[in-house]
Amino acid sequence: MEKILILDFGGQYNQLIARRVREQNIYAEILPYDRLSADEIRNRQYKGIIFTGGPNSVYEKGAPVCDPKVLYCGIPVLGICYGAQLAAYLCGGTVSPADTGSEYGKTLLHRKAAHKLFEGVPEESICWMSHTDSVSLLPDSFVCLAATENCENAAFADDIRRVYGLQFHPEVTHTEYGKRILSNFLLQICGCSQDWQTEGFVQQTIERYRKELAGKKVLLALSGGVDSSVAAALLHKAVGENLVCVFVDHGLLRKGEGDFVEQTFKAFGLNLIRVNAQERFFYKLAGVTEPERKRKIIGEEFIRVFEEEAKKMGEIDVLAQGTIYPDVIESGRGDSAVIKSHHNVGGLPERMTFSAIAEPLRDLFKDEVRRTGELLGLPKELVWRQPFPGPGLAVRVLGEVTAEKVRLLQEADAIFREEADTLPAEDRPDQYFAVLTDTRSVGVMGDARTYGCTVALRAVVTDDFMTAKPAQIPYEVLEKASVRITNEVPGVSRVVYDITSKPPATVEWE
Ligand code: XMP
Repeated sequence: MEKILILDFGGQYNQLIARRVREQNIYAEILPYDRLSADEIRNRQYKGIIFTGGPNSVYEKGAPVCDPKVLYCGIPVLGICYGAQLAAYLCGGTVSPADTGSEYGKTLLHRKAAHKLFEGVPEESICWMSHTDSVSLLPDSFVCLAATENCENAAFADDIRRVYGLQFHPEVTHTEYGKRILSNFLLQICGCSQDWQTEGFVQQTIERYRKELAGKKVLLALSGGVDSSVAAALLHKAVGENLVCVFVDHGLLRKGEGDFVEQTFKAFGLNLIRVNAQERFFYKLAGVTEPERKRKIIGEEFIRVFEEEAKKMGEIDVLAQGTIYPDVIESGRGDSAVIKSHHNVGGLPERMTFSAIAEPLRDLFKDEVRRTGELLGLPKELVWRQPFPGPGLAVRVLGEVTAEKVRLLQEADAIFREEADTLPAEDRPDQYFAVLTDTRSVGVMGDARTYGCTVALRAVVTDDFMTAKPAQIPYEVLEKASVRITNEVPGVSRVVYDITSKPPATVEWE
C-alpha cells in the first residue's frame, strides 16, 4: 500500500490533512515531526511527505524542526503554513513577520506562474490564510507560484529538490481549490495510484487478526457505539467464538440504549455478556465534579470491570478496543496537545492484567469506520448512529453525577432527539443531544414558583468533529422540544440552546 507521511508540527488542522489525503484513496499517517530520521523515512518508501502548520515561528528557540535531510531524500515534500516556512528556511530562504501584520481568513490568491501543482486552479481564487510569518525571500531555485495582497510567496515550488510550499491551508473547505491542489500534489507530483480502499483494509485486517490472534481468547469492550460495534464485528469475522464481548452498562447510557445494544448483538450472533455495573460507577463518581477526573474514573472502572469478567471467564489473553485514529491523535500520542482524554485511550490505567491490546480501527477515521461497518453487514441503524462519548452521560451532567440527574437527562435527551428526528434525514444535524447544566433558575408553573434545572440542547453540523458549527435547527423543533421537556420532565424549569462553534467550544460540555 502506498503511503503519505504527514509530519506533525503542532497545527490544528493536521487530522483534516490526513482525511483529505485518505479521501483520495491514498493512505496517510501522521507522525510527530521528530519521530523518524531522514534515513528511516526513506526506508519506509513514502510516496510523499506533508509538513503541517504549527503555532511556532521558525527562528524561535525550541521551534520544531525535522531532520533537514528529509528535504533531500528525493521524496516530494509539501509544506503547509509553518511547514512551508520551515521547508523554505531549511533550503536557505528567509522567513519574516508579514509587513502588514498577520493575515487571517478568506483571502484572494493570484497565480503567478503555471505549474502542475495549480493545474485546474483559476488565475484568481479564494484561499484560507492563518499566519503571522511568511517566506520573504525564496531559496535559490525556488519559483513563486502564487501570491496574496499581503503575502508575496503564498505558494512556491522547487521541482529539482521536489519541495513545494503553500502559505495557505488547502485542507480547509474555505480554500476553494484546496482539494484540487492537494490532489495535484498527490497524483501529479507524488505519482500516487490511489490504492487505499476500505474493502481492502477490511480483508487485510481480518486476515491479519486471524493469524495474530489464532488460538487466543479476546475480550472486547463493547459500548454499543459505532466504533466498538464495528471493532466487534471485524474481530468476530477473524476469531469467531474466541471473541467475547463484554458490554458494561454503566448506567450512563441514553434512554433504552442498554437493551438495544444487547438485542442487536445477540441477533448478530456475538458472544455477549451484559454487566449491570450502574451502582459501582455511581459510587465511584459520587462527589466528583472535575470533568477530566470523571473521564479518568470511568475509564479506570471500565478496565476493572473487564478484568473481573476476564477472571471469571479464565483464559483471556487480549483486550480489544474500538479506538479510532482521532482518539489516538487527540490523546497526545501524536504531537498535538491533549484536548480531552478520550476514555478509551488517555484513561487507560497503567496496571493492566491483559498481555496485549488489539485496536483494529486505530488507523481509521470515522467515515472509514462506518464504511467498514456497512461492509461487515452491521445494521444501518447502528452504523449511522450519532457518536456518543465513552464516559456517556457523565460528561453531559455538569458537576456531580447522580442516578437521579442521569434519569432526568435521559428523558430530556430522548425528547430532544425524538423531535429532531422528525426532520428529514438530510436536514438532521450530525450530532444532537441534551446536557443537564448545574444552573438552577426560577420558573412558574400553575400558580407556583419553581426553582428547577436548566437543560441545554446541543446540535452541531460537522464534517469530522474536529471543528463544528451550531446547527440552525428550525425554531419549531426547538420550541416543541422545550415545551415537551418542561412539561414531561419534572424538575426542569428552563431549556436553552447552545449556539457555540468548535472551536472555541468543544462539542461536549465537559
Ligand atoms: P468534543 O467534545 O471533543 O467531541 O468536541 C468531539 C466528538 O467526540 C465525542 N467524544 C468522545 N468520544 N470518547 C469517545 O469515544 C470520549 O471520551 C469522547 N469525548 C467526546 C463527542 O461526542 C463528539 O462527537
